[in-house]
Amino acid sequence: MSDRRRVSRGPRYAQITGWGMAVPEKVLTNDDLARIVDTSDEWIVSHTGIQQRCIAGERDTTLTLAVRAAQEALLVAGIVPTQLDLVIVATVTPEYLFPSTASLLQDALGAAHAGAFDLSAGCSGFIYALSMAADAIRSGSAEHVLVVGSETLSRIVDWTDRNTCVLFGDGAGAVVVSVCAERCGVMASVLGSDGSGGELLIVPGGGSRHPLSQQVLERRDQYVKMNGREVYRFASTVMPRATEAVVQKAGWQLQDVALVIPHQANDRIIAAAIKRLGLPADRFVVNIARYGNTSSASIPIALCEAIAEGRVNAGDRLVLVGFGAGLTWGALALEWGVPEPARPRPLFLRWLATFWYFLAGIRSAIRRTERALYDRTMGPEGAEGVRGKLRERSDRLRAVIARRLGRLRPEAGPTAEKPTAEDDDAARQ
Ligand SMILES: CC(C)(COP(=O)(O)OP(=O)(O)OC[C@H]1O[C@@H](n2cnc3c(N)ncnc32)[C@H](O)[C@@H]1OP(=O)(O)O)[C@@H](O)C(=O)NCCC(=O)NCCS
Repeated sequence: MSDRRRVSRGPRYAQITGWGMAVPEKVLTNDDLARIVDTSDEWIVSHTGIQQRCIAGERDTTLTLAVRAAQEALLVAGIVPTQLDLVIVATVTPEYLFPSTASLLQDALGAAHAGAFDLSAGCSGFIYALSMAADAIRSGSAEHVLVVGSETLSRIVDWTDRNTCVLFGDGAGAVVVSVCAERCGVMASVLGSDGSGGELLIVPGGGSRHPLSQQVLERRDQYVKMNGREVYRFASTVMPRATEAVVQKAGWQLQDVALVIPHQANDRIIAAAIKRLGLPADRFVVNIARYGNTSSASIPIALCEAIAEGRVNAGDRLVLVGFGAGLTWGALALEWGVPEPARPRPLFLRWLATFWYFLAGIRSAIRRTERALYDRTMGPEGAEGVRGKLRERSDRLRAVIARRLGRLRPEAGPTAEKPTAEDDDAARQ
């Protein structure tokens, strides 16, 4: 019996089946930074634990990093993009204000049957997105969801402000979350927000309150502003609290937790959480030295590295915990369900995947061209004469085809609109 049919009858769980990460090639060390602002390797390492960070090159964007991470995650999960029902991108540095980076990612992957949206919850974004994905799967509205945290913070950091520019880096991490029948995957989540602390970590300019203007640019308000001490105080308190809360919600004991994967903002914040929770330090994943704070991408990148290092095994209980701008925080209790470490995919599968993404690019180009040519050849809506009639017929035919394709897709489900008798008449004409 197929997994899907087996799952549809019993309880539904949401487990991570694929993962991938991508970081830009360009590395910026603390010594490099000391040539740009008044700082030193000694200060940065002793105050944050960061030794270097990856910085987006000219061709890297939040989308290109997201695409690379997502392709890897899909390959590990062993599903094709058309099986995705939903694409969620957690980011504070979207490709554009709109359209969403998630929609652009959906198109780049050829995930033709997926809905897509961006999620903004500061550095807690990935936790929020994973929690939403699990809810969608458990409620029965999705079978496979792609969750990505992708950031190019180097584009919104003020490279003249030593208080902030030393902290952040660029990168992306992605997971595929799939339905499963066995009890595993996301067991509990805790999400929180305190908007009264919004101004502690903020990009004041470029939004509805202060649209981009000469004044905004003069004040450098298009860049990150941060009250480091207050954020530090908030983070040191909220991280252990959220961890304890999610462990309790999952019905576990703290000692049962095999691995905590915290947001990587400052190794002193993580050290404070280790002390407060009383867990051995080797149960925490810490990779901040190499990447700095990559916001929504930090937790999935740390997860990918922990898996690659063999630190995550079937049956392990994990806690993912983050905090960030908003202020927001979130924690997830996760029971690792993947039975064995994923083997490297054979080369021919990678070639096949590359070919698929090539086709997805062609599909996207055809749709763009068709959209551009349509009005020109068919004439504007409501036009008189032959062109008007041609457009009317063509529009109706396109609607029928779209509906029929919807009916053929199993994902469309029982609520999918059926072609009406009128549509059938139109198709016959
Ligand atoms: C930013 C942070 C590292 C600063 O560390 P800190 O120990 O709190 O340092 P302070 O704020 O007390 O500043 C100490 C001094 O170092 C200076 N300083 C700040 N950045 C510096 C840098 N890159 N190099 C050298 N000196 C620096 C400050 O100007 C200050 O000097 P002053 O005392 O003469 O004014 C720390 O507060 C922090 O990590 N906060 C949380 C930030 C965070 O996680 N943000 C993202 C959340 S998702």
